[in-house]
Amino acid sequence: MEGGERLRPKVIVNVAMSADGKIALPDRTEVKISGEEDFRRVHELRDRVDAILVGIGTVLADDPKLTVKEEYVEDPDHPLKVILDSERRTPEDAQLFNKGDWLIATSEETDKEGWIRCGDGEQVDISLLMKRLEERGIEKLLVEGGGEVISSFFEEGLVDELTVFVGSLIIGGREAPTPVDGEGAYERNETIDLEFVGHEYMDDGILLKYRVDGDDEISR
Ligand SMILES: NC(=O)c1ccc[n+]([C@@H]2O[C@H](COP(=O)([O-])OP(=O)(O)OC[C@H]3O[C@@H](n4cnc5c(N)ncnc54)[C@H](OP(=O)(O)O)[C@@H]3O)[C@@H](O)[C@H]2O)c1
Repeated sequence: MEGGERLRPKVIVNVAMSADGKIALPDRTEVKISGEEDFRRVHELRDRVDAILVGIGTVLADDPKLTVKEEYVEDPDHPLKVILDSERRTPEDAQLFNKGDWLIATSEETDKEGWIRCGDGEQVDISLLMKRLEERGIEKLLVEGGGEVISSFFEEGLVDELTVFVGSLIIGGREAPTPVDGEGAYERNETIDLEFVGHEYMDDGILLKYRVDGDDEISR
């Protein structure tokens, strides 16, 4: 990780998993893991951040709206929706386009409105994207998944806080996605240390809260 002041948004990762550590069915179909209390918490959290980010895998699997539900938050300011989509696979009729502002980050040349090129590698350069978001005034970013995207954020040392809701169900299956997929065992075959900061019982499960160890020098 680079030394000195880190000018980038604060990054919060939030995910819901089963008791056996899976975030969707083996065929990647969405499954209900938490309930009303956790939905409310997530929508209140969305309302407190400036942007929400997911990968194209989540867009294709779940077609999420990525908005703040008025049922949970009165008169919300919908955060900016940010999608990582290197090969421009986001469907034109995706629900994320229905309400609020959006930004799609790609690694290909683009002059489409609302799209931004970050790097020219196989995937979106997320460190560069963080700089671009900082320049746009994004101070807090909520990363909601899926496992590939969350893995990249950990790998790049970009995660500040992690909340994991553990629901009371088993999903099973070695192909079912987990909160952090990717290659795993990061640089030097090391694990990533977390600082456990608390828990909360909600619905029929438990919310686990962590800070990511190490460099405290986040911009805000
Ligand atoms: N339970 C939960 O809380 C929760 C939340 C969200 C999602 N999910 C589940 O997660 C699953 C989707 O997860 P997923 O892992 O398949 O997909 P994902 O993490 O949503 O998206 C991964 C894709 O994003 C693109 N991408 C571009 N730049 C990237 C970068 N720097 N790092 C990582 N990815 C980058 C890549 O595709 P390109 O190369 O084509 O760009 C990559 O394959 C679904 O089953 C969904 O239901 C669960």
